[in-house]
Amino acid sequence: MGNHKKATIDFLKNYRMDHSDVDFDRDLDCFLDEMKRGLADDAGSLEMIPTFIETINAIPVDRRVIVADAGGTNFRVATVYFDKKKHPVIEDMKKFPMPAIEREFTSKEFFEAMADYFRHVIDAADEIGFCFSYPMEIMPNRDGRVIRFSKEIKTPEVVGQLVGENLNAAFERLGIGGSKHVVLLNDTVATLLAGVGYHNRDFSSYVGFILGTGTNCCYVEDNANVRSGGDFTGQRQIINTESGGMNKAHWGKIDQLYDASTNNPGVQIFEKMISGAYLGPLFLCVLKQASADGLFSDQTAAALDSMTDLTTRDMSDFMLYPYGDNRLAAVLRDCPDDTERLYVLADHIIERAAKLSAINLSAMAIKSECGTDPTRPICIVADGTTFYQMKTLKSRVEFYLKQHLEDQRGIYTDIISIDHAPVIGAAIAGLTN
Ligand code: BGC
Repeated sequence: MGNHKKATIDFLKNYRMDHSDVDFDRDLDCFLDEMKRGLADDAGSLEMIPTFIETINAIPVDRRVIVADAGGTNFRVATVYFDKKKHPVIEDMKKFPMPAIEREFTSKEFFEAMADYFRHVIDAADEIGFCFSYPMEIMPNRDGRVIRFSKEIKTPEVVGQLVGENLNAAFERLGIGGSKHVVLLNDTVATLLAGVGYHNRDFSSYVGFILGTGTNCCYVEDNANVRSGGDFTGQRQIINTESGGMNKAHWGKIDQLYDASTNNPGVQIFEKMISGAYLGPLFLCVLKQASADGLFSDQTAAALDSMTDLTTRDMSDFMLYPYGDNRLAAVLRDCPDDTERLYVLADHIIERAAKLSAINLSAMAIKSECGTDPTRPICIVADGTTFYQMKTLKSRVEFYLKQHLEDQRGIYTDIISIDHAPVIGAAIAGLTN
């Protein structure tokens, strides 16, 4: 190993930030323990939210449903129907900004802003499948009560409120339309359902995985193991684990420094190590510490020190084009040794995100108790820009899954991607619930 590389890895290890500092088996056990605690209603860090949704594949054809997808940045509204071949047909798609990102909204403002986005489709159907990418407790009537917001959404009054009920009330206030049957579901759940609806393959179970601005996983659990299973008549239902909240797995020293600097310290600990809203800012903390510890030339250290922000996109651009036209490459222009060091740092932080993601996915697969027959693997329906666009992330997740899940435990998985998965899954939920 070259000297630059060794010094860089030694620096990371000193702060327990290297991927080799993550103990796969230990963290996997932590995940499985926390999943069991959450299912039993214990106060663990995984919420394990029952969804009352099964993975059935009986989608009504030629019936239109209104669909909304509220993500970290955008709010999409569309109509969807499934044609005779059960292919989804997405129409009337419009994209709006997610409310309450730029400034704080009252509850009334928040629901009216959302209601307003439905004007062009409001008469298309009586049902709305609503993919809402934030933790919610799902009610037996499929409405969802907001538990908290992540991803910088500022509308504290909405916490504890029912989304469907309030949306209907806002439709009325705005004079837009009558009362709709609103089916709320998390984006991981919608993504999982899109996989069930779309693929004509034999899978023994499904996992929904998002690694975008935020991260989360859902999987299918035996209803007998679910705390409020009595309200549900099916055999197995999808559980939204809210895995971004995991706080018992690996946590490096710079993760802790970074967490203390965020506006919600102590919350979404796992998400802050792997997802798009945080990877760039976390990496900037790593770079500043590396500068302070003398890993870079004085010139580079001074330039890094004066940087006040770094996005995951900046990190990704640098990894693809270390000598290209991007913010990090500009800082390093005159010092190729520093370029190599910075690249190795970024690469190891990304590999760590991949290893942690694979641990998360392995826990879902093991808890599903399926996938031991290679002809019927567990289908992981994955969505999110960080997962697909960050250099090497996806291939390394697959590498760790092969090593630890397939080779060591004999559990087989297949990762699939479906265009517009949250919209398609929300349509299935709206049509079948
Ligand atoms: C939210 C989850 C969501 C995930 C992916 C997290 O911040 O808590 O509910 O599924 O982001 O969008």
